[in-house]
Amino acid sequence: MVKAVVLGAAGGIGQPLSLLLKANPLITELGLFDIVNTPGVAADLSHISTPAKVVGYLPPDDGLKKVLTNADVVVIPAGVPRKPGMTRDDLFKINAGIVRDLATGIATAAPKAFILVISNPVNSTVPIVAEVLKKHGVFDPKRLFGVTTLDVVRASTFVAEILGDLSLSKSVAVPVVGGHSGVTIVPLLSQSSHPLPANLTTDQYEALVKRIQFGGDEVVKAKDGAGSATLSMAYAGAEFAAKLIRAIGGEKGVSAPTFVNLSADPSGGEALKKELGQDLDYFSTVVELGPEGVAKINTLGSLTDAETALVKAAIPELATNIQTGVSFIASPKL
Ligand SMILES: NC(=O)c1ccc[n+]([C@@H]2O[C@H](COP(=O)([O-])OP(=O)(O)OC[C@H]3O[C@@H](n4cnc5c(N)ncnc54)[C@H](O)[C@@H]3O)[C@@H](O)[C@H]2O)c1
Repeated sequence: MVKAVVLGAAGGIGQPLSLLLKANPLITELGLFDIVNTPGVAADLSHISTPAKVVGYLPPDDGLKKVLTNADVVVIPAGVPRKPGMTRDDLFKINAGIVRDLATGIATAAPKAFILVISNPVNSTVPIVAEVLKKHGVFDPKRLFGVTTLDVVRASTFVAEILGDLSLSKSVAVPVVGGHSGVTIVPLLSQSSHPLPANLTTDQYEALVKRIQFGGDEVVKAKDGAGSATLSMAYAGAEFAAKLIRAIGGEKGVSAPTFVNLSADPSGGEALKKELGQDLDYFSTVVELGPEGVAKINTLGSLTDAETALVKAAIPELATNIQTGVSFIASPKL
C-alpha cells in the first residue's frame, strides 16, 4: 500500500505528474492538493482504470492536513515557474514561502513521509524543507530529496541525439551531479554508459555540457511567456518517484542522482566532502536507494580535468544557494 501525494497538483507540472503517478500500479492512493482546481483534476484522474484511489483537496477544512495524513511519498511541484524577465530573487521569494508553509504541514501531518522537492530553486528549497523539519524535531535526511532527474533525463536524450539514435535515450545513463541550476549542474559525461563519439571536438563537448546545464532556458524561450518545463519535468518526477517507491518496497540495486543532505549517509557524505575539498551540507550525486530512503551516497569517482573544473566552478554558487535557503528559515518566524 503506497499513498503518494502531490502538493501543487493542479499546475503545469502537477497535472501531468499526477497522471503519471495514477498510471503507476504500485500506488494505491493518490492525494492531490493545490490552492485551486484539485477536485476537478482528481475527478478526471479517478476514472482511469488503475489501482490508485484519487482524492483532491483544497486549503479550506484542513485540506492540507487531510491530504497528508498517512502519506508515504510527498512530491512538491507547488510554486511559480520562471518567466522571461523574472529574476531568480523574485522566484525565490515566492517559492520559498510556499515551500516553507507546505513543509510545515508535512512536519505536523506526515513527519515520516519521503519528500521529493521539485519547486525551484531546488538548491535552496531543499534546505528550506530541512530547516522547517529540524524546527519541528522531525528531520530525517534519508527521507528528503531534491529532484534533479530532469537534468539526468536531458543528458540521456542529448547524448542519444549525438550518438544519432534516439532509441538509446532510455538506456543512456549519465551521472549528473552538483546542484540543479546553471553552472551547478555537472554532467559526468566521461562516466556515460554509452561513450561519446571519439571524434567529438572540445567545442562540441562544451556545447553539450552547456545544453544540459541550461536546457531549461530552451523551454522557457520556446514557451514564450507561458512558463517553464512541465511535461518533461512531470516525466522526470514520476521516474524518480517510481524508483523510490520500488526501493522502499524492498527492491535492491536502485540508484539515481538526487540532491540530498550529506548527513543522510555519514560515511559516504564525508567521503564525498573530502573528494570535493569542501564542507558542503548538500550535494547532488548518485544515491543508492533503500527501504529507509537514502541507503548510500556515492562519491564522484574518477573525473576528467574538464569535469574537475566544472565541479570546482559549481561549488561557490551551490554554497551560496544552500545558505540562502537556510537563512530564509533562520530569520523570519515560522
Ligand atoms: N526541479 C525541476 O527540474 C523543475 C523543472 C521545471 C520547473 N520546476 C519548478 O516547479 C514549480 C512549478 O512549476 P509549474 O510550471 O508547474 O508552475 P504552475 O504555475 O503551472 O503550477 C504551480 C501550481 O502550484 C500551485 N500553488 C501555488 N501555491 C501553492 C500552495 N501554497 N499550495 C499548493 N499549491 C500551490 C498553483 O496553484 C499551481 O497550480 C516551479 O517552482 C518551477 O520553477 C522545477
